[in-house]
Amino acid sequence: MKFSIFRFLILLVFTLLVSLKANGIFRVQSESINQDSAAFISPYEEDNQRCFVCHGQSKYTYKNETLGRDIKALMFSERIIRKDEYYQSNHKSFSCTDCHSSEYANFPHAGELRMEPRLNCIDCHGGDETYHFDGIEEEYKQSTHFKLEEEGFSCWECHDPHTYKISKRTSQNLKETIAYDNAICLNCHSDFDRFELLTDHEEINILKKHDWLPNQSAHMASVRCIECHTQINENLPVAHLIKPKTEAVKRCNECHSQNSMLMASLYKFESKEKRKDGFFNGIILNQSYVIGANRNEYLNFMSLIIFGGILAVIGIHVFFRINK
Ligand code: HEC
Ligand code: HEC
Ligand code: HEC
Ligand code: HEC
Ligand code: HEC
Ligand code: HEC
Ligand code: HEC
Repeated sequence: MKFSIFRFLILLVFTLLVSLKANGIFRVQSESINQDSAAFISPYEEDNQRCFVCHGQSKYTYKNETLGRDIKALMFSERIIRKDEYYQSNHKSFSCTDCHSSEYANFPHAGELRMEPRLNCIDCHGGDETYHFDGIEEEYKQSTHFKLEEEGFSCWECHDPHTYKISKRTSQNLKETIAYDNAICLNCHSDFDRFELLTDHEEINILKKHDWLPNQSAHMASVRCIECHTQINENLPVAHLIKPKTEAVKRCNECHSQNSMLMASLYKFESKEKRKDGFFNGIILNQSYVIGANRNEYLNFMSLIIFGGILAVIGIHVFFRINK
């Protein structure tokens, strides 16, 4: 008698598990990674090649008219543009001379070209609805870096004109996106030469400044700098208002809680259905285990059933004992 009740309970739990699995609650994600594998062919391939012959690698050759012979020289690393990265960037369909003076076709480049004014994102993208350039511009103007504009800071400092490519955040490339986005900040914040171009501020040791964060490297690989340093804005996919350091996120439970702020920032791009999936923060669980943020409502429910079941078994046991 006791045994059959026990067996019944086990069977009940088992069927529950199986049906949950069939419903896809414990689904294993195996969507194939979609990549833009189709090679891009620029209409300006030949045109740009005039520049890539010198700017595409570490050495270039020019004819010295006075000496009447070819001279080989090293290209400054800052002046090298990687062709493959250029043709994968957002502005891959551009000719170099869309943004730069066509005078650059001549070498040596005329000195006054250095003074050439440069176009800003908003000059071409103003009024854009998809990426909210105007909203971003507005936020940027309130951000902590904006005061460095006079020193030469601009959108281009974070969005390299020749390599920046927008990253579509999906659960497949999330780690890549995080690394890519953090590299944007570290370009200056771990390279004092670049940092110094813009400020007299003494060097900031990024590692030291964040040593209050346990397992810093795991955190930096799982969250972006902008998660903690920007103000979340519902209307912008990527918040651009970098706040003063005193307002950065420091409280652990901003992320390590059921309504983790990561849902409003890092995981904003994930579809609503994916967010549900039985887990309160299903999508976070997909990527990493964020203590406190990952809980499963079915597991909660099942533990109640099991708990109830145990109580029932004990109850029945006691009942038969007393009535023996
Ligand atoms: C014969 C080699 C050669 C060719 C061809 C060449 N460049 Fe340059 N370019 C250089 C060198 C060397 C420098 C760095 C010295 C200088 O600024 O003159 C440079 C510097 C530059 C700079 C930076 C100027 C600054 O403000 O410091 C730009 C922008 C530039 N080139 C664009 C172009 C474009 C666009 C083309 C193609 C239309 C092109 N270059 C073709 C060799 C070349
Ligand atoms: C979408 C506009 C755009 C296109 C297209 C573009 N550039 Fe630039 N380029 C810029 C801007 C803006 C800067 C100044 C960046 C800065 O100062 O941070 C720049 C800077 C440079 C520099 C100086 C290096 C530096 O970092 O200051 C070189 C060299 C250069 N460009 C060459 C090229 C070549 C060669 C091509 C084509 C293969 C090209 N650019 C295409 C916008 C563009
Ligand atoms: C000279 C005009 C011009 C400037 C300056 C410019 N862009 Fe663009 N941008 C374009 C055009 C045109 C396209 C579309 C290119 C295409 O479809 O091949 C584009 C494409 C893009 C895309 C990709 C959009 C998509 O749907 O794939 C992004 C993101 C972008 N630009 C961001 C920027 C940012 C950020 C800046 C400033 C740092 C900037 N752009 C500066 C003209 C410009
Ligand atoms: C301090 C660095 C920084 C500055 C300055 C900056 N951005 Fe960004 N921006 C980022 C980062 C990081 C991302 C996320 C990149 C990604 O994953 O595609 C981003 C993303 C974007 C995107 C893509 C948004 C989307 O929907 O995916 C656009 C458009 C953009 N920035 C425009 C601008 C414009 C315009 C300016 C200047 C007014 C600017 N940014 C200045 C760091 C910066
Ligand atoms: C988990 C949240 C978090 C992440 C992720 C994070 N930061 Fe911070 N950061 C902070 C906090 C909080 C402070 C203020 C620390 C203090 O003053 O004690 C700070 C301080 C800073 C400062 C100012 C240091 C100073 O004293 O002048 C810089 C610069 C900075 N962070 C850059 C970055 C960069 C770059 C990244 C990405 C590689 C990053 N942060 C990632 C929370 C974070
Ligand atoms: C082109 C270089 C450059 C890039 C890229 C850059 N920063 Fe900065 N950042 C600076 C400089 C320079 C300062 C120091 C400003 C000062 O106080 O003079 C600074 C200061 C800061 C501060 C401290 C503000 C304060 O209150 O003192 C934070 C936080 C910060 N940056 C975060 C970021 C984040 C996050 C990113 C990436 C999205 C980023 N930075 C990208 C150059 C850069
Ligand atoms: C910006 C969001 C954010 C903040 C703020 C944050 N964490 Fe985390 N934390 C994460 C994420 C995401 C992970 C998952 C890392 C991974 O992939 O393993 C994590 C992982 C951890 C881990 C496990 C790391 C390991 O060794 O695997 C610990 C412990 C932790 N956090 C503690 C803290 C503490 C303590 C604080 C406050 C001082 C804090 N976190 C603040 C997002 C955050």
